[in-house]
Amino acid sequence: MMAYYVIVFLALISYAGSVEEQSVSFKNCMKSSAGAATSIETIALTSSSSQYQQALQSFEQNPRWVNSSSTSTSPTTPLVILTPLTASQIQAAILCTKKLGMQIRVRSGGHDYEGLSFLSYSKAPFVMLDLNKLRSIDINLADETAWVQAGATLGELYYKISKASALHGFPAGICPSIGLGGHISGGGFGTMLRKFGTAADNVVDATVINANGTILDRKSMGEDLFWAIRGGGGTSFGVVLSWKIKLVRVPPVVTAFNVQRTVAEGATKLILKWQTIADKLPKDLFIRVVAQNTGANSATVQVLFNSFFLGGIDRLMPIMKQSFPELGLQAKDCTEMTWIQSALFFGGHSKDDAPEALLDRVTTFKSSFKAKSDYVRKPIPEAGLEGIWKLLLKEDVQALLIMEPYGGRMSEIPESEIAFPHRKGNLYNIQYMVKWDVNTAEASRRHVRWMTSLYSYMTPYVSNSPRAAYVNYRDLDIGTNKRHNTSFAEASVWGIKYFKANFIRLSQIKEKVDPHNFFRNEQSIPLFS
Ligand code: FDA
Repeated sequence: MMAYYVIVFLALISYAGSVEEQSVSFKNCMKSSAGAATSIETIALTSSSSQYQQALQSFEQNPRWVNSSSTSTSPTTPLVILTPLTASQIQAAILCTKKLGMQIRVRSGGHDYEGLSFLSYSKAPFVMLDLNKLRSIDINLADETAWVQAGATLGELYYKISKASALHGFPAGICPSIGLGGHISGGGFGTMLRKFGTAADNVVDATVINANGTILDRKSMGEDLFWAIRGGGGTSFGVVLSWKIKLVRVPPVVTAFNVQRTVAEGATKLILKWQTIADKLPKDLFIRVVAQNTGANSATVQVLFNSFFLGGIDRLMPIMKQSFPELGLQAKDCTEMTWIQSALFFGGHSKDDAPEALLDRVTTFKSSFKAKSDYVRKPIPEAGLEGIWKLLLKEDVQALLIMEPYGGRMSEIPESEIAFPHRKGNLYNIQYMVKWDVNTAEASRRHVRWMTSLYSYMTPYVSNSPRAAYVNYRDLDIGTNKRHNTSFAEASVWGIKYFKANFIRLSQIKEKVDPHNFFRNEQSIPLFS
């Protein structure tokens, strides 16, 4: 027994030694690189640094892994957190990690549901590039575009647009602290998706650093790679440095409403109707449904009809009366506001809060969660909805479904236009989420098991062949790459769900632009052959 402890002790010392040596080798390589002029010590943190944990956890949204007990299958954290100040430091980091046999992870906003921007399940040493110092936003109203760096957040972008113009906006996600690097790479949608499509649909140029450390723009990267980074998920092809986006025109007044009903008050019938109209309404109107329990011992499920309209109440009311009279919407339920106020309203603030609230990227309240997603192509019948409510009421922590309508512009864009594939034929997307505050391994197992049972229950009601999923609602349970060169066929288990037929082209492009599979993670696009 004693011998065993001695061996473990020696192994730990040698591991610590090798970690230290690898960090030093990486830093030395960076120092000797012409591009990395700034003192490396000011931009690199190793696990022995007192600021390391704070830097690691500050932007992540899902502390499910960070505090739960460590096991052999627990993910590992970065050897070095590098916060580049310039593109040349990213170029140097790519070349150094490659030379030293390390991997790289990229974090823009840190919102990846499974933590893939800062955690690895492969045990290979890796450097995390934290892009939070690369967040410039340059708006050009003359041609209605903006160049935005990947480390900027949606809130920063919305804020900057509103400072430049009261009549422009950008169609992307709802949570202001999301990073543009990951969000747009995966598609990115919010309240204006029915009018303008996804964020990725509104990208007109980009800069990317590839596995050779070369900076490419749309012209030099070519249309294949430019296609792949718009919806093909982050980090399979390179480090996105910046996006050039097309701004969209918004009216001076938009309207929001929240109407809440419980299942006991007849919300099921309202959802039955909503399913038949939500994707067919005028493109200006977005009505999503959030159905949730209210934590432990919920007696009934609460259903929120949460809506955004590109126009005023006068124009909204006749549309609602004609298409959804059952909701009983009245003008007093609606609030007119500016587009930037709607970003505050949907982002969890009051519309009257100072817009500077959108600049806050650090989430102070975090709870662990597990999420999954589905696409619905035909209305779920009443009995199916009732089964969902039963499952929600069985869970003793907050559990919810967010159902976001498609149709409109989303149905006009062909599936193969960009890598994001979820278009015509989808009534709505569902995001399932369960959240808990007691962050133990046992709690995590229990709530994930509940989520698995809900997902299994939903099988007959959602898309099949493939059972589609949205890559930005990352879910490692649908399948992962198990080894360095996971084959296309093996990866198809999860890849076809996220990308449908576009998975083939994504894999062919991967083979062309990153033939040694340098940019890889648990759900990165595999080489085609
Ligand atoms: P993060 O930095 O964790 O990156 C996510 C992935 O992209 C990782 O694999 C990462 O390596 C890679 N990546 C990041 N930056 C990159 C870069 N510069 N180059 C290459 N790869 C890069 N989605 C949505 O469509 N609509 C919504 O309304 C919401 N709402 C929402 C709310 C909350 C609270 C959360 C936590 C998440 C959402 N999402 C969402 C999902 C969100 O779009 C998704 O998590 C994005 O990938 C987050 O991008 P970040 O840059 O913040 O994450």
